[in-house]
Amino acid sequence: MSGSDVELADLLARARAVLAHAYAPYSDFQVAAAVRDETGRTHVGVNVENVSYGLATCAERAAIFTAIAAGAKRITAVAVTSRRLRPISPCGACRQVIREFAAEEVAVASEDDDGQLVVTSVGALLPRSFVSLER
Ligand code: THU
Repeated sequence: MSGSDVELADLLARARAVLAHAYAPYSDFQVAAAVRDETGRTHVGVNVENVSYGLATCAERAAIFTAIAAGAKRITAVAVTSRRLRPISPCGACRQVIREFAAEEVAVASEDDDGQLVVTSVGALLPRSFVSLER
C-alpha cells in the first residue's frame, strides 16, 4: 500500500484542520478529507450540504475536485475524518470517484476514537472496480 504512516498521519492532520469548515447543518455530521497528488501537494475538502438535501457533496469528492481544479492528475493518498464516526469510510459514490484518479494500492486513512491511524486501500474499498479504458 502507498504512503507511510507518518505521511498519512500528516494528511489526516490536514483534514482535521478544516473539519470546522464543514457545512452540515442538516445532518450535523461534519466530515473533512485531504488528498495528496502526484506532485506531493495536499488538497482539502469538507462536506457541503444544501436545504435541498440530495445536493449534499461529500468531503472526499470536494477534496478531489479541488485537486483536479488545481491541476492534479493522480491521487496518491486519501485521508478522511469526522468527529461522530471513527474510523469513517468513504461512501460508495466517493469510492468510485477516488478510483478514477487513484490506483488500487493507494492508501485510504482514517482514525479511530483513540486517534490511531486506520488504513485501508482503494482496491479493498472498491474491489473489481469499473475503470476507464484509457488507463
Ligand atoms: N459524508 C461525507 O462527506 N463523507 C463520507 O464519507 C460520508 C458522508 C457526508 C455527506 C452528508 O453531508 C453527511 O456526511 C451525512 O451523510
